Amino acid sequence: MDELIRLSIQLHLVFIVLLGLLIGINLYLLNSDRTFVKLSKRLELLAPQYYIILSAIFFTGIIVMAVQQFHFSVSLGVMIIVWGGMIAFGIKGRRMYKKIERTESSQKAYKQFASKKYALALLALLATSIFFYTVH
Ligand code: HEM
Repeated sequence: MDELIRLSIQLHLVFIVLLGLLIGINLYLLNSDRTFVKLSKRLELLAPQYYIILSAIFFTGIIVMAVQQFHFSVSLGVMIIVWGGMIAFGIKGRRMYKKIERTESSQKAYKQFASKKYALALLALLATSIFFYTVH
């Protein structure tokens, strides 16, 4: 049982690191000097990975929770809220992306929103991890 918890937590952490890397790549692309057509092609490629990794974080988290007999803690509550926020902002960003017009202002507004969304996600990822290790 201990082995299962250890493996699930390790996997949970691996996916959190992967998410951090993916967010970093997205931020780099959004702030690079590419044309919007080139940029959107890259972003389209990365979008599914973002949700796959978020699902993997949830899945590994649920396994750890189940093995620990659904013992609840404040840091667990924070993780679930942060995760929900990332999904909610992701959906908002997706809706905004679909409505982008061919005008420069519309594309710029999307880039600004997406940059803020990913920067906040990165901060939340770090803050949640720091919170866990300091409170735990
Ligand atoms: C993106 C959001 C999340 C972040 C940044 C995050 C981060 C972390 C970190 C840093 C740990 C500590 C691992 C260790 O022991 O070294 C952890 C453990 C854990 N996470 Fe998450 N997590 C997130 C989402 C979730 C979700 C959505 C769930 C549940 C559905 C979850 C459930 C757990 C559980 C049960 C543990 C073990 C707690 C304990 O040992 O007391 N996490 N998480």
